[in-house]
Amino acid sequence: MKITGNTILVTGGTSGIGLGLALRLREAGNTVVVAGRRRELLERIADEHPGVGTVELDVTDPESIARARRQLVAAYPNLNVVVTAAGIMVTENLRDPHSLRVAEDTVATNLLGTIRTVYAFVPHLLTQDDAAILTVSSGLAFVPLPITPTYNATKAAVHSFSEGLRVQLAGTGIQVIELVPPAVRTTLMNQQDLESAMPLEEFLAETMALLRAQPDAREILVENVKFLRNAATDGTYDNVLALLSSH
Ligand SMILES: NC(=O)c1ccc[n+]([C@@H]2O[C@H](COP(=O)([O-])OP(=O)(O)OC[C@H]3O[C@@H](n4cnc5c(N)ncnc54)[C@H](OP(=O)(O)O)[C@@H]3O)[C@@H](O)[C@H]2O)c1
Repeated sequence: MKITGNTILVTGGTSGIGLGLALRLREAGNTVVVAGRRRELLERIADEHPGVGTVELDVTDPESIARARRQLVAAYPNLNVVVTAAGIMVTENLRDPHSLRVAEDTVATNLLGTIRTVYAFVPHLLTQDDAAILTVSSGLAFVPLPITPTYNATKAAVHSFSEGLRVQLAGTGIQVIELVPPAVRTTLMNQQDLESAMPLEEFLAETMALLRAQPDAREILVENVKFLRNAATDGTYDNVLALLSSH
């Protein structure tokens, strides 16, 4: 993708990676709009970062997606990039029936939410120059963290969906880029102070540098995620799974 001069929607833009990426992309000379459910955060972002657009969006609600799309296309007719960063990550105990609710919410947000968002914006993106869809999977798409089984499964599915999407959109001008973050210090699963997770600013800086250096990239892989992304082909899968199983 080109790194400047875009109009970019970031779902999951009220905090963490989504917000950080939105602000970095704005610094790089793009118009950005952040989306999320938490109204107080959207208001604070609008106050603290004049010029950053905000839109209320719940990706588990098809009506909310349709409403946000109508608002966005009207207010930002040049919208040409969509980043699907909305996501949740919650531990599950597969022996406890109550965990099924977590599993269902995780699929509704991470997988169906991504799929619905993509379906909603593809028709508009087809009319734009230099269009791109940036999906957000995870290193855990490639080796699972056993305490979050449905989370990992949704991210493996987002990876697969991104692959199919890229092939279907080939030749349309819409580029499909998959961001594959490693553990990053955000509040996603309270890992904001976790030593072993990558500091958010470092992750954002490396991601922006890769987006700049590799405009045709299919996947954005910071160094810290490669041990997960490449485990299956490196012959290290069993060892990495054993490591993740100790959490
Ligand atoms: N941090 C990591 O270690 C890591 C690693 C790999 C992948 N990722 C992925 O990166 C993405 C961003 O996560 P993060 O780490 O930045 O966590 P975060 O700070 O908790 O951000 C999650 C974002 O998703 C939004 N969201 C959650 N449910 C939503 C819904 N139903 N509708 C719309 N928005 C929703 C939240 O906004 P509202 O609550 O305002 O709706 C928030 O903006 C996620 O997809 C996550 O799976 C993170």
